[in-house]
Amino acid sequence: MNDRIRTDVAHNARVWNYWLGGKDNYPVDRAVGDQVTAFYPSIGEVARADRAFLGRAVTHLAAEAGVRQFLDIGTGLPTADNTHEVAQRVAPDARIVYVDNDPIVLTHARALLTGTPEGRTEYVDADAHAPERIVAAAAATLDLSRPVAVMMLGILNFVLDTEEARSIVRTLMAAVPSGSYLVLTHPTLEPELGGEGNKAAMAFWNENATPPITARDRAEFVSFLDGLDVLEPGVVSCARWRPASAAGHTVAQFGAVGRKP
Ligand SMILES: C[S@@+](CC[C@H](N)C(=O)[O-])C[C@H]1O[C@@H](n2cnc3c(N)ncnc32)[C@H](O)[C@@H]1O
Repeated sequence: MNDRIRTDVAHNARVWNYWLGGKDNYPVDRAVGDQVTAFYPSIGEVARADRAFLGRAVTHLAAEAGVRQFLDIGTGLPTADNTHEVAQRVAPDARIVYVDNDPIVLTHARALLTGTPEGRTEYVDADAHAPERIVAAAAATLDLSRPVAVMMLGILNFVLDTEEARSIVRTLMAAVPSGSYLVLTHPTLEPELGGEGNKAAMAFWNENATPPITARDRAEFVSFLDGLDVLEPGVVSCARWRPASAAGHTVAQFGAVGRKP
């Protein structure tokens, strides 16, 4: 086993996998996952809504906006409909660079590298706190003179300092040209999205699991999209971003897609 993998402390990538019904997790992850669910019963629904948003956003960008390059930071463990599968279903020549810093995601990365012969997929073991390194590594696979969809789903919440989180986004978006996109999801305590239950759950998480997490309010989330043209329907619960049907709940996870003018 990779000696960076700790089985005595719950890790976000593995607990997220547990909430999504995956098998790549340990007893400690399932125990913490169940306790968080006791504080915040809709967390499984949040995880599923986030993945469904990823599918709709990537499909839109590949099919309608003509994007052929995706930089998916905070990838998570392989699951159904990973970014390359969604993108390459529409555009077999799409290129995808995945980035995560969790050692277990690294050990499963091969499952993310099974793209089409026309396209390319690459995996980079890197930390979002070092965006320059991510840009340099991505440049080996992506043509950074052409539009890129930078995807940060459920990851800026692990950058606890909001100014640093903004700076990371600015660095990444400065490295890609006009016509590029930023795809974001982020948990919130906002009552308008029913997020109050997140508070106790996050406090529990921060005492019992890693990495530590924070929620952000609407104004903070909107600030990550500064300088971008936000696509309709704007900043909403990720479950309400161009939903396939009018049914479906609001979850306490903001979602938005912005285009670099
Ligand atoms: C909540 S999961 C989201 C996974 C996927 N993006 C999704 O939306 O389903 C967050 C992922 O971010 C990764 N992550 C957390 N902090 C990170 C950091 N500083 N650098 C890189 N990845 C990080 C975790 O390992 C985990 O796989």
